[in-house]
Amino acid sequence: MQLPYPCAHSFPLVLAPMAGVSEAPFRQICRRMGADVVLSEFLSSEAIRRRIRTTLEGAEFEPVERPIGIQIYGSDPNAMAEAAALITEHYSPEFIDINFGCPVKKVVQRNGGSGCLRDLDLVAQIIRSVVGATHLPVTVKTRSGWNDQTRDPVAIALRMQDAGARAFTLHARTRTQMFSGKADWDEIARVVEALDIPVIGNGDVEAAADIVRMREHTRCAGVMIGRGVFGNPWLFRDAQALLAGHPAPAPPSARERFSVALEHARLAIRLQGDARRTVLEFRKHLGWYTRGLHGSSALRQRLFQIESIGEAEAIFLEYLEPIAQVA
Ligand SMILES: Cc1cc2nc3c(=O)[nH]c(=O)nc-3n(C[C@H](O)[C@H](O)[C@H](O)COP(=O)(O)O)c2cc1C
Repeated sequence: MQLPYPCAHSFPLVLAPMAGVSEAPFRQICRRMGADVVLSEFLSSEAIRRRIRTTLEGAEFEPVERPIGIQIYGSDPNAMAEAAALITEHYSPEFIDINFGCPVKKVVQRNGGSGCLRDLDLVAQIIRSVVGATHLPVTVKTRSGWNDQTRDPVAIALRMQDAGARAFTLHARTRTQMFSGKADWDEIARVVEALDIPVIGNGDVEAAADIVRMREHTRCAGVMIGRGVFGNPWLFRDAQALLAGHPAPAPPSARERFSVALEHARLAIRLQGDARRTVLEFRKHLGWYTRGLHGSSALRQRLFQIESIGEAEAIFLEYLEPIAQVA
């Protein structure tokens, strides 16, 4: 089943919205590696409505990132409508996604994110308000329910579809589970069965082969990948190869990993400014890019102390020196 916006493959691979990770630099790297669709991290509708600069910066993207969705959250249907209208007018993404999944306490206390799942009438009202405020397709991303007692992804999904959602992404865990346990792919299959709109499966994809498994297991219209691509955007490349019936390419060498890490870092400097903050926030990506390499814990210890990208480059060169001598 087709998504409500154009994208390159009939079975799309979607980079998950992830606060502090799926920002423009990483989105661009993932698009280049084979992600078909990307999303912004979740943005507060109240902050958008009040035109808070740092929040609006989160809605910025470059043309190479398209197709892109901007994700908004909030429990006030009016604020959500206003935010959707502003995003449509000023940023014109391919679609607007509503976050009904965020489990973070600060967010759910005000009924944002998965907090809304305790009141499905409110959920329907929010979706209708957003749909009425934009000509763009409105999609939703949610969890399987608030807790085990109220876990009912099919009922939630049907309400969201009835309210006007054009695609549905399920992270098949409840709010109270946070990230514990396993995502229940059987639930994704049941929702696929029940809905007329495309369903994107999400949860616990760690390797390219998991994407093929999820597709077979659930018959979903596409797969969204989050934590599995931390430091490993090659997962998109490998999955596209498997989906096209080819073997997965060889894993990236240390040199390739460093080269993409530095490309990512330079994008971050260009897009987010050459500030100390950009570098400090980038340290986590360096940790992820070097995971599993020979001597990676010593390497990470050094990378976690860098104050400039030049320092990371020097550390990488030093690491590669003995390899270069053997080669
Ligand atoms: C660091 C981090 C930040 C996240 N931020 C968001 C977010 O802004 N919006 C959202 O809908 N989900 C967010 N999520 C949830 C992911 O989009 C995804 O649903 C979840 O990680 C499960 O997928 P995975 O098993 O492939 O990681 C976040 C997850 C992580 C780990």
